Amino acid sequence: MLLALLFAFTASGAAAEDLATKMIMALDVNPGAVAFWAAGNDPPETESPYAADARWAAAVQGARVMQDKGRLLQSAGIRRDGPWAGFAEMMVRISQEGEAAARARDPEKSFEIGGRLYDACNGCHKTYVPRVAAD
Ligand code: HEC
Repeated sequence: MLLALLFAFTASGAAAEDLATKMIMALDVNPGAVAFWAAGNDPPETESPYAADARWAAAVQGARVMQDKGRLLQSAGIRRDGPWAGFAEMMVRISQEGEAAARARDPEKSFEIGGRLYDACNGCHKTYVPRVAAD
């Protein structure tokens, strides 16, 4: 009886942890990364100054969201054993550099930082969710 309860508790705990990470990824980290990566890509050819302002502002915001969520991923209840916190912290640090590059509207630097950002995402995915990893 006690064992069954314990099992039920751990099982639902693990599911809640997965769901939290899934939500953080789908609602915040991924859109934030996509907005930041747009800073390192060639702008649309007919981009108006207004659209450029919006694109850079979204890149800054995306970099800030990733810092925020990178810290959240390191908190108790969400953090996992192993290199997890290291990858989350890597995302925080790289996104800090990314925020500065996006504020400076520097596409080359944003592109270079975007590549390193991808390594943080993929490093964590390869370790914890091989099905999400790209290679
Ligand atoms: C600290 C580890 C970690 C880091 C860093 C990380 N992820 Fe994830 N990510 C996960 C885990 C774990 C899952 C699987 C969640 C699940 O489905 O249970 C996931 C799932 C995802 C998913 C699928 C979400 C869904 O709807 O199922 C996307 C998209 C994603 N991550 C994008 C990113 C991007 C982009 C970055 C980098 C900017 C990133 N992740 C960084 C751990 C991480």
